[in-house]
Formats: sequence, structure tokens, C-alpha cells
Amino acid sequence: MGSVKGKRIVLGVTGSIACFKAAQLCSTLVQLGAEVDVVLTEAAQQFIAPLTFQSLTRRPVYSDLYDVLPDLSSAHVELGMRADALVVCPTSATTLARLARGSAEDMLSCTALASTAPLVIAPAMNVNMWSHPATQANVALLRERGAIQVGPVEGRLAEGISGMGRLAPLEDVIAGIRVALGRPGALAGRRVVVSAGGTQEPIDPVRYVGNRSSGKMGYAIAEAARDRGAQVSLVSGPSALAAPWGVEVRRVETAMQMRDALVETVNGADVLVMAAAVADFRPDDPAEHKIKKTDADLSLRLVRNVDFSGDIARQGGPALVKVYFAAETRDLVTYGEQKLRRLQADLLVANDVTEPGSGFGTDTNRVILLGRDGSRQDLPLLTKDEVAEQILNRVERLLSGQS
Ligand SMILES: Cc1cc2nc3c(=O)[nH]c(=O)nc-3n(C[C@H](O)[C@H](O)[C@H](O)COP(=O)(O)O)c2cc1C
Repeated sequence: MGSVKGKRIVLGVTGSIACFKAAQLCSTLVQLGAEVDVVLTEAAQQFIAPLTFQSLTRRPVYSDLYDVLPDLSSAHVELGMRADALVVCPTSATTLARLARGSAEDMLSCTALASTAPLVIAPAMNVNMWSHPATQANVALLRERGAIQVGPVEGRLAEGISGMGRLAPLEDVIAGIRVALGRPGALAGRRVVVSAGGTQEPIDPVRYVGNRSSGKMGYAIAEAARDRGAQVSLVSGPSALAAPWGVEVRRVETAMQMRDALVETVNGADVLVMAAAVADFRPDDPAEHKIKKTDADLSLRLVRNVDFSGDIARQGGPALVKVYFAAETRDLVTYGEQKLRRLQADLLVANDVTEPGSGFGTDTNRVILLGRDGSRQDLPLLTKDEVAEQILNRVERLLSGQS
């Protein structure tokens, strides 16, 4: 679910200066395995030629309302009817107005009207055009009807000034498309809470005790759950990764901050996935000011952080599906099984972080899934995205009462 591979996507392109970015979006969607049909408005052709999209998709490009498909059926209804998702990127103010009032006056608006597929809009325009009450009312109405709105964002606009109206990053537009495709997914209506990354425990205002967790595994799970229709909260320790679009992200630094954020988010959740590497110890009494260098050695006294994993799970209630990670450097299964039992987890994801290609910072991971029923599933070395899918397959089974 949520994957664009094999999906029929209609890409509408309108007359905005951000049109050139639509070519990159089109190329990326094709590379991800989507079947992309491009509809250009008349104005869009002032900015970018149909040939660009025809070459990228190796399919006809449509712009005339009276165009026909290769089988001679009417493009203005057929394209929309067979689409899995309709994305308009960039969406001009004019097209927003047409979509809002249900106009069928050109090929793109007609395609949208004839389609029951989810609509993704990515507005891009001048700052005043964007903030105009007419535009805001049009966007609000489209959102109310279920359109997924991605951006705009604040930044440099074509007229040389900075303001709200810039096209959202293309990664976010693709995330919006994934969300659209994943709406009917198995986790639709479910709330999933994921913890990710490592924590940093201050020694003084400039130094900390931390660990090597990058957050990649937890972020991959958050995105995969979002793409299966879930409403996702991600509680993240410091990470270089960008906040995934469509996920509520809370950034924290210390273990105690992570506990507080999880306490706030876990209520009412259906699934808890604890992928964060939380510090077991923290420096006792961190210095208020930077500790100055002297010739003497320095000893740090570390005190035990409270292990809050069990408390968070209890707060979530008895129906909460609980998934924990165990990062180990030896005796993986023994330690994993101990943790599974201690925390009464439904699923324990054990990974040996010293194995090549596995563990912290890598894009791949080799894990063993230990189930509460005593089952053991050894997965091969996979990308973290693939591991996330495997974990969520198990989560779906647990939600439906299987183990
Ligand atoms: C150079 C130039 C840049 C433009 N950029 C935008 C833009 O970024 N966003 C927008 O809504 N309209 C923009 N317009 C105006 C649209 O092209 C115009 O409103 C047109 O009616 C859009 O029609 P369409 O939605 O059918 O493509 C621009 C016009 C020009 C001449």
C-alpha cells in the first residue's frame, strides 16, 4: 500500500513558473514504476513543452479537451476514471478555482471532475495570490472534499522576494501521492506511535553522551505506516533526517524528554513501535557552563535513566500492539527473548548492530522477528524500507488478532 509501483497516476501540470519541476516529478514517478499520464493546461504549454513529458513517460500527453486515447475513447473522461490518483503539480490559482467550482471547461478540470480517484494538489504562486481570500477559500473547499494539499512552502519566489507560495519539495509531493494511494490501506483509521533515533544526555551545554542511532529504521516505519493509511506520530531523538511529510513529528533530545513526549502521544494509539535507542545512563548533574579544559583528567558519573518502555505501553492500554527493538552486539536471540518477556511485547525486532550492513546509520538491516507466541522469523539483509514493510505485515496480523 502507498507504493506508486504499477499505479496509474494522472499528472496535471498548470501554468506556473514552477512547471519545470513537474518534469522532475514525472521522471521520478516513472522511475518508481508508476504509469503516468500527463495532462498539460494550455497555459502550462507556455512554460514547458509536451515533448518533455512525452519523452519521459513514452506516452501521449493530453491538453485538448477533445483529445482521444489511442483506443479512440474520450481522454477527458477515461483518464480520470481509470486513475489511481490525480496529482496536479504545480497547481495554479486558476486551476484551484476551476477545481473548487467543479468546472469542466478544459482537459485537466474535466479529467478531475470525471475522476473518483484521490486528488493531490501542490499549489505554487505569488505570495499575494496565495494569501488572497478567494484562493484560500478554494483550497479550504478542496481540502474539505478530501483533496490532499502539499504546500506551498515559504521561500524564494520567482519574483525575487521571499514568501509563502513556493512549490513544496518534490519528496513531499511524492509523499502526498503515497498517502493518497494508501488511504484505503489496512492501517486506515489506526493511530501508530513510533520512537526513533538516539537520545543525547548533556554533560554541559556543548557536550553530550549519545549513541550511533541515525533514526533511519524508525523513520522508515513511520513512513510505511503512513503509506498504509495510519495516522502516525513520530517521536524522534536528534536526527539528520527530514521530518516525513504527513507524519506528526516531535523532536526531543534526552531520554526523559522522549518519555514525556511518548506519554503525551500514546493515549488512544493502536500501535507502539519503540525503535529509538534510548540512553540507559545520563551524566549526573550536568554542568551549567562549558567545562573548561585543564591538565587534569575528568571523570563523569553516570546515573541510571528510568526504563520507561513498560510504563508507556501500560498507558496505551491493553489493546495496544507493542513492538520493541533490541540492538545487541552478541547473544542476540537470548537478549531479545528476555526483552520480549520482560516488556510483554507482541513483537521484538532483534538486530545485531555489529553485522556488516546492519544496525546504526546503514540503509540496510538484518533482523530477527521474535513473536509473543514463541515464533522466530529470520529475515535476510533488506533495506530498512523493506524491513519496515515486514514489521508492519506482522503488526497488521496482530491487529486482526493473529500472532
Ligand atoms: C511568467 C508567469 C508566471 C506565472 N506563474 C504563476 C504561478 O506560479 N502560479 C499561478 O497560479 N499562476 C501563475 N501565472 C499565471 C497563470 O499562468 C495564469 O493564471 C493561467 O490562467 C493559469 O492557467 P491554468 O491553471 O489553466 O494553467 C504566471 C503567469 C506568467 C506570465
